[in-house]
Amino acid sequence: MGTQDKSPATTQLLAPEITLQPVSVTRRMAASLPHLREVAAQKGLKIHHLGAGYPHPEVTDPRGFLAHKKAYFDHLTQAEGLNDPDVLPEYLREAYAYTDTLGPYQARLAFARVYGSDWQVEIDPDHVLPTIGATGGISLSCSVFERPGIPIAYITDAPTYAGFLARATLNHKAVIYSVEMDSDGPIIERFREQIQAARNAGYFVPLYYTVPDGHNPAGFSFSEQRRREIIQVAEQEGILILEDAPYIYINFAAADKRSRPFFSLAPDRTIHLFTGSKIGLPGPRVGFIYTEAILEVADGLHVPLSDLLLTEASADLLLHNPEALRGFEALLHDETMTLRKSLWPVAEEKLRVYRENRSIMLELLQQHLGDYADHFSWTHPEAGFFTVFTFKQNQVTTDEDFIARLVADYGVVAIPMYAFYPDDARLRNPGAGMHQLRLSFCFNESTGEARRKDMREAVTAFCHAARVESGLPGLV
Ligand SMILES: Cc1ncc(COP(=O)(O)O)c(C=O)c1O
Repeated sequence: MGTQDKSPATTQLLAPEITLQPVSVTRRMAASLPHLREVAAQKGLKIHHLGAGYPHPEVTDPRGFLAHKKAYFDHLTQAEGLNDPDVLPEYLREAYAYTDTLGPYQARLAFARVYGSDWQVEIDPDHVLPTIGATGGISLSCSVFERPGIPIAYITDAPTYAGFLARATLNHKAVIYSVEMDSDGPIIERFREQIQAARNAGYFVPLYYTVPDGHNPAGFSFSEQRRREIIQVAEQEGILILEDAPYIYINFAAADKRSRPFFSLAPDRTIHLFTGSKIGLPGPRVGFIYTEAILEVADGLHVPLSDLLLTEASADLLLHNPEALRGFEALLHDETMTLRKSLWPVAEEKLRVYRENRSIMLELLQQHLGDYADHFSWTHPEAGFFTVFTFKQNQVTTDEDFIARLVADYGVVAIPMYAFYPDDARLRNPGAGMHQLRLSFCFNESTGEARRKDMREAVTAFCHAARVESGLPGLV
């Protein structure tokens, strides 16, 4: 068969409105990694992971979770007062049956109590809706505002989470107006200006999307003061804050120094996205969306946003996986099957590893590069998985060639920052992110002492590369 042969379906369906979405740089990197690995291996180089944003294998071994879930499910059987093993417990029947769009009430109630107590919010379980991780929450939020089919502008940070950009711009009528940041968060004057600019250009501006704790990819958390200023602008301008909070518990600040999330400061201004991916496991895809916002919609009606989200979700994925949600409910109970007062003790098991990795990274960056403060800087993340590393004299351009060389010549995998800047930010400043890398300290392939050793080797290899590429003496 010649290459001109095409199936009738391909030639007959004219779809001129559909465009091919560009592949993200992280995907492209993942695709090119096997080849680069080979090149590095041929040179006898070890591969150092400072790129992937995955939870660490040491804290995502599912066996402990499965044992606890089984104990919790046994506890539910006993609570039903069943002695006859031939009788099917009700919770089990429900866990494998069709559920509704709200998912099992018990899971929402347990989540509302524990999360509400951690963040001092009285959460109404009927305003909590399950999502397919935070990803599902982003999608659902966009979906609600896409429904009228009008041109939309989303406000977000420059840089911002690539998953948000990808989902938001799936809608051809949506554009991004981004806001540059300083070390406290988005610059307030720019925030206000961008909302105005979007409106002047005829767009409906529903929300500002952000990751205030452990910002991915910016590698820092917003100050409390800036959070309050953002809320003030959102209130004055009549827009919502879409708060993506995957790292809310991956927090390195002392308990009394942690900033409060937006949903705790302004629940009626915020759409909050919780995910079980980092505090639990990413595979079960458990998340919740929560908001107390009331919207004025067509005909002057005032409607809880949670109702709009629910109707949107019921037309979209319709049914949830009740077993996964009740499995997450198990995590919200301790070993005695009592509802936890807090998720912080669960977080602590994870923080042990991330805190260590973070310290290794920050200490070694300081040790090997601290004398060159005019050449290099990096963020000190109070939460999350990442630090942003800057070549301050623009001596290194962190383009795709550089990223490939970093793997092939030094065995170091890191992510270029430019890819996280929305198009409008790169138009304003074509150099945005072009001298920066996102270094992640969350992931490598070993555990315990081997993990610490691999982490040290990875950061040392990176420091060596940063020095050599900047024309400074390498580490011997
Ligand atoms: C900011 C941000 N949002 C969303 C996600 C995706 O989370 P989930 O697994 O809950 O869909 C991630 C994952 O790394 C993230 O960093």
